Amino acid sequence: MIQIKNPTELKMMLMAGELAAQALELAGKNAVPGISTWELDRIVADYIKSHGGSCPCKGYGGFPANNCFSVNEELIHGIASKNKILKEGDIISCDIVAELNGFMGDNTKTFKIGKVSDEAERLMKATEEALYKGIEQAVAGNRVGDISNAIQQHVESYGYAVVRKFIGHGVGRDMHEDPEVPNFGKPGRGPRLTPGMTIAIEPMVNTNFPEVNILGDKWTVVTTDGSLSCHFEHTVAITNGEALILTLPEH
Ligand code: MF3
Ligand code: CO
Repeated sequence: MIQIKNPTELKMMLMAGELAAQALELAGKNAVPGISTWELDRIVADYIKSHGGSCPCKGYGGFPANNCFSVNEELIHGIASKNKILKEGDIISCDIVAELNGFMGDNTKTFKIGKVSDEAERLMKATEEALYKGIEQAVAGNRVGDISNAIQQHVESYGYAVVRKFIGHGVGRDMHEDPEVPNFGKPGRGPRLTPGMTIAIEPMVNTNFPEVNILGDKWTVVTTDGSLSCHFEHTVAITNGEALILTLPEH
């Protein structure tokens, strides 16, 4: 069942979204050559906790870290590690969820570590653009499939592949609520969007193939051929006009 948020709940969602976005911005500033993903995870979690929030990923289905940090061929759910040191030319997807006063904000950006390859630049551009193509379709009266299709079309116009196995989702008091928000599909299909819905739109894009593998740690999702993957995400609210992006550092 899709939870429709009332104005008070939307205000709470906005505050959680701001915290998640600030924490993501901090991750980006600290993502430089020589830092470990463990250290990044600690910096982000300290920020969220010192602002009255918590990190709901910790312990979710047994997930061992506070948030997800995925490097290069890792698409999502990378587990922070002291042995994973960032180096020039890497790309890192920081997927940050913050809970504040019972509501969640969920957002992701892929950051460059120094100078990266032209291919990495192009993949990041395609994925971020696809996120905004999806957000453009996140208006009352449209259906979820309109978001999905816009993302898929944009990604495939670059020759890249949208991942099928993991998808976006409703978000609110719970990290994962209805509806499902796939990054592929047909326009005009799926649940109708109505004001007060809050959803996480999150294109996950591989350079070559849509398929993914899960590593022996049972979490880290990687491309099957070791090529780069990329992930951008915002939590948005459906309104009477354009979607309101909740995961911005300030409004
Ligand atoms: N942030 C992810 C999402 O967009 C969820 C992370 S899975 C977890 O849905 F295990 F880390 F919580
Ligand atoms: Co999400």
